[in-house]
Amino acid sequence: MVARLEADQPLVPVVREVLLALRLDVLIPRAYVRQVPDGVEPGVWKLLDGAHPEDREEWIKVLYSGDSVRVQHDGERLDGQRRGVVTGGRITSMSSVLSMTAAFLGELQPQRGQSFLDLGSGPGVTGAAACLICGPERVTLVDRDPHLVEAVLERLAPLGFRPRAVTGDGYAGAPAFGPYDRVLSGFAVEAVPPHWLDQLADGGRLLTTITTRSPSWPGRAVVEKTARGRVEATLRGVRSGHRPAHGLEWLTVLAHRERIAAEPGSRRHTSLAPPDESAYGLWLALDHLAPGLVRDYRAEHLTLVAPDEDSWVVVRPAADGSWMAESVGERPVWAEVEEVHARWLAAGEPTSYRLEVAADGSQHVTSATGPAPLEWALSAPAAPGIPAPAQERS
Ligand SMILES: C[S@@+](CC[C@H](N)C(=O)[O-])C[C@H]1O[C@@H](n2cnc3c(N)ncnc32)[C@H](O)[C@@H]1O
Repeated sequence: MVARLEADQPLVPVVREVLLALRLDVLIPRAYVRQVPDGVEPGVWKLLDGAHPEDREEWIKVLYSGDSVRVQHDGERLDGQRRGVVTGGRITSMSSVLSMTAAFLGELQPQRGQSFLDLGSGPGVTGAAACLICGPERVTLVDRDPHLVEAVLERLAPLGFRPRAVTGDGYAGAPAFGPYDRVLSGFAVEAVPPHWLDQLADGGRLLTTITTRSPSWPGRAVVEKTARGRVEATLRGVRSGHRPAHGLEWLTVLAHRERIAAEPGSRRHTSLAPPDESAYGLWLALDHLAPGLVRDYRAEHLTLVAPDEDSWVVVRPAADGSWMAESVGERPVWAEVEEVHARWLAAGEPTSYRLEVAADGSQHVTSATGPAPLEWALSAPAAPGIPAPAQERS
């Protein structure tokens, strides 16, 4: 698994060592595998039990695939899980894709002895990695789900790890055990919650995925607090990020896919070729400046959908070597892309943006380059509302 990850991205030596030492078999004794394609409802999953001889081979394969591993269905207790098939409901927790965890840890650069806050700790893979790096008692885990927190503590104990744990809303952090030298969020937020900034130690670093309602173009915020307590932050577009916090719903192309294939739209030539997928700085700006769009990555040609406005555009090569934008619906999706693209060029094609946090917690993103910088505000970092009162365990 580590060799596969290394083929895709260079691994920081300490992260490589930690990935080799991770006991996924102890952390994830049972795993769900989906039995019907994504988007097919009701969902059907099979729970593999690593202790059962018939499941063992497939379970090991799933565990060490590097993919996100599904661990909880409908908020169930993890110690009451039974192998077999479940239909309907939804998966409520999973591990993070391992290449993403590796990238986050590589960028966060935690050190031995530092205090580490793992927000949205799920099955505890990131938490275990943090214990290996920072020390068995230097980590604090927070998850909204009490069953996950309980199971993770039980599974980490035989490995010699004794993190503190809080059940409750991750937006509040874990003030009782702070401040933290390193903070990593396993769920995406619309802006950096002010409590996280308060609990970041001087000289500390925090990483989180910033999302909008669109799943297509995540941003990664890297926040640093100087030795004098000043917050400095950047936001850059990235290929993949964490799923949104509980309660934030992403837009989806699923309801539109068949219609896009069947309904012809109005066509016009465009001089803008579909921008490269790796132009992350552009896509991130588009996500915020033309919100409400989602890309169908399964489509052969660039396909952008505005589900709320029942509009979309498909951009295909034309016979004469130029490009043809075929649009359906009221919203002029491609015109918005053309406009943001022009502004992005005028701003000097930024790949990374400065994220400014004002004293009142409001957050503003600016390219701060070129004659006409690109700018936008992040929406207020309000928690989507998690009723359970926080419980602390150490
Ligand atoms: C993808 S998992 C994190 C997995 C973890 N990084 C790992 O690899 O083991 C995200 C977790 O965030 C939790 N979560 C989502 N929203 C939350 C919130 N507002 N407060 C606390 N936990 C939250 C979910 O319960 C879920 O377990």
